[in-house]
Amino acid sequence: MKISDVPLFTAAAIQERVQELATKIDRDYQDKSLTLIVVLNGALFFAADLARTLKTATLLDCVRAKSYTGTVAASEVALSETNVQFVAGRHVLVVEDIVDTGRTAETLLKHIAARQPASMALCTLMDKPANRRTTMKPEYTGFTIDNQFVVGYGLDYNGRYRHLPQVYVLE
Ligand code: IMP
Ligand code: MG
Repeated sequence: MKISDVPLFTAAAIQERVQELATKIDRDYQDKSLTLIVVLNGALFFAADLARTLKTATLLDCVRAKSYTGTVAASEVALSETNVQFVAGRHVLVVEDIVDTGRTAETLLKHIAARQPASMALCTLMDKPANRRTTMKPEYTGFTIDNQFVVGYGLDYNGRYRHLPQVYVLE
């Protein structure tokens, strides 16, 4: 397997979209206690750029979610614990790299809901609605893409390509 010669989303296109999302989130959360829950490892770079672009003050915590082996989506999602003080009574925005079947997001939102947030929403860099197995619908989406496997800017294929500054299609 190799990656596409031409990026699907260039670093410039990603930064432009991050700016647009941040503007929208700033508008929606002004004067609210915002917590970003970052889903590791994939959302690492997106969340770092988003958090630094937001004007709204945030608390930030990370969770680890593991569901993919190679390019095959698994039905079980393993989660690490979140900092309860960052969630209870606060407005929580879950930051994902990509929503595919939606199982990771669904598991995580349930986990957060049980910890009494003031509100909960989902922000994803990319959305692949064609492969959905749940009712998940992100409130904030950077890019909607076809049912293809993408890597780069945090997204990996068996640990590879995460470091790339742009998003590529795995061929
Ligand atoms: P879901 O639980 O099926 O929605 O999958 C979500 C997780 O699977 C994402 O957070 C990614 O880590 C991973 N994933 C899904 N699609 C891709 C892809 O195209 N490239 C890399 N990782 C992906
Ligand atoms: Mg992920």
